[in-house]
Amino acid sequence: MAIQKTYSMIKPDGVRNHHVGEIINRFERAGLTIERMELGMVTLEQAKANYAEHEGKPFYDSLIAYITSGPVVKMCISGEGAVAKCRALMGATNPAEAAPGTIRGDFGLIMDENVIHGSDSPESAERELAIFFS
Ligand code: RTP
Ligand code: MG
Repeated sequence: MAIQKTYSMIKPDGVRNHHVGEIINRFERAGLTIERMELGMVTLEQAKANYAEHEGKPFYDSLIAYITSGPVVKMCISGEGAVAKCRALMGATNPAEAAPGTIRGDFGLIMDENVIHGSDSPESAERELAIFFS
């Protein structure tokens, strides 16, 4: 498996509920490297670009409102198979279905506030890294 870069973002609930340190610890323990990291707000423009694939879906407006509602931690993460590794560490989208030991399984409660975002493919990673770290 090749060395990859991926985009991950601790969502407003993850920051608000003080899970930042534990989440970064999990990435590092998995052998991944934090290449870049920034705490701050997501602009409306960035939110729309990041979630363009979901435009028109019933949850789109609340998703955009939520991701722009408070500070997040934006990260560029690298390592062997980083895209899939991050997704595995995150767990299923719905915290109610996420396995114990995953970030969403341990720290998430509801679908709308599920702690963390991660690129779902190398192509998404390239696109999303350009949105947040251009
Ligand atoms: P993310 O993009 O945030 O990393 O999450 P994901 O790939 O696991 O899930 P995705 O399908 O891309 O959905 C993006 C976010 O939208 C919310 N969602 N709600 N009510 C629903 O059916 C529904 N489906 C998705 C979730 O907050 C999800 O993280
Ligand atoms: Mg997604």
